[in-house]
Amino acid sequence: MIRERLGLPKRRAHRRLGAGERLLALPSGFLWGAATADQQIERQQPSDWTAFEERAVRERRGIAGVDQAARWLAHKSDFDSHVADDVARAADMGHCAHRFSMSWARLFPREDMAAPDPAGVEFYGRVLDELHRQRMTPFVTLFHFASPAWLWRPDRDDRRGIERPDAPDRLAHLATTLIDAFGDRVRHWCTINEPVVLAYLGYLEGTFPPNEKRGGPLAADAVLAALLRMHEAAAAALREGARRRGTSVQVGIAQHVRTFVPWRNRAPLDVVTAAVIERLFVRRFLDQAMPSCDYVGVNEYGRAYVETELRRPLAYQVRHADPSDADDDASELGWAPDEHAFEDRLVALSRRYRKPIYVLENGTAEAALDDVRRQRQLVRHTQAMARAVQRGADVRGYFHWSLVDNFEWAEGFAPRFGLYAIDYDAGCSRSARGSVEVFRHLTRDNGVPAELWARLGR
Ligand code: BGC
Repeated sequence: MIRERLGLPKRRAHRRLGAGERLLALPSGFLWGAATADQQIERQQPSDWTAFEERAVRERRGIAGVDQAARWLAHKSDFDSHVADDVARAADMGHCAHRFSMSWARLFPREDMAAPDPAGVEFYGRVLDELHRQRMTPFVTLFHFASPAWLWRPDRDDRRGIERPDAPDRLAHLATTLIDAFGDRVRHWCTINEPVVLAYLGYLEGTFPPNEKRGGPLAADAVLAALLRMHEAAAAALREGARRRGTSVQVGIAQHVRTFVPWRNRAPLDVVTAAVIERLFVRRFLDQAMPSCDYVGVNEYGRAYVETELRRPLAYQVRHADPSDADDDASELGWAPDEHAFEDRLVALSRRYRKPIYVLENGTAEAALDDVRRQRQLVRHTQAMARAVQRGADVRGYFHWSLVDNFEWAEGFAPRFGLYAIDYDAGCSRSARGSVEVFRHLTRDNGVPAELWARLGR
């Protein structure tokens, strides 16, 4: 390894909290919940992702484990048949909020529709009824990676999807439709989930639809600009809809944050490249979107190391974990959580934007029913949030990714992110992982109880 050859010590990004840690409570009224997304748990709708999934099955590539996935894609986690019992499962953990997305393709399966499909409205009305019955606050996402297939037909100038000039109006139309239908019950909205990830995976890496590889990081700029316009149009439509109804809304986006750290702390090119990636991947879009947001939505998935080579400075590598670090606790996708980075991130975002923060996603891939890594993460990240609040961050809620196992996009069904495990071959039956019990304790105490800290915190 270069690091060893050059004798440069890698920064140990991971520090455990100490035994003498003072356990802190979250503020009263803190929102606890889990997050899900339509394309990952519901039956298939006519979206760009569904088209991609069908092609992947035909061509047997594009989705990991596609042969096995082929059997499960049509029903995914079958949330459609489990609305009431899944919401009850969340409530039983003490969740008082829930984040989910309303499928654009389910509501507007055809391009020429001015009004939404009544069956789609009825379905999401049912989800909201169940949440209401369990006294849970809904957080609704408009666009979580999947969009209607019709949006991807090229227009006269050969522009498709996000880059169609009418894409902002189309998303605004969805926003108006939803606030008209549900504005009496939904106050918290998220316009777009992880725009930068969508641009990166869809247009640079090519693993998400539309599967393009446009070259260097700046090649996705036009896509990011289009996503920003879509967000702004949808945010304005939600506000206007709320004004018409005489209510108010809280609007934001969900930004994927990874903390990029140099692989070698004393290698200047690693340090500089990590800072540039951090700026392009995390900060730039947020800076642009924040003026039209009421809160900062954070999807947090840990730490990533940036390693460069002096001879080929642009061919940097991003590593998601350090196998030689026994404290790394990497997930089954190889991603390393980092509660300190999480805490610092919340404090920094709060200082920079001076708006409330909701953690809209945080989770890990671990299949075992005794999911010790997820339990540790829940406990350590809860304490990290409480420490961030003590340092002045205005953190108001935490949504764990995810309530149940789901379709992990191009990674297929192998990575298991659920608090509840799903047996896809047995009618999508659900079984609680150990984390469910841990979560119950966290919500009951509104923070980490000492007994859990002793067992899982350090
Ligand atoms: C996305 C989710 C995804 C999760 C785990 C986030 O990037 O919003 O849809 O399943 O991370 O990879």
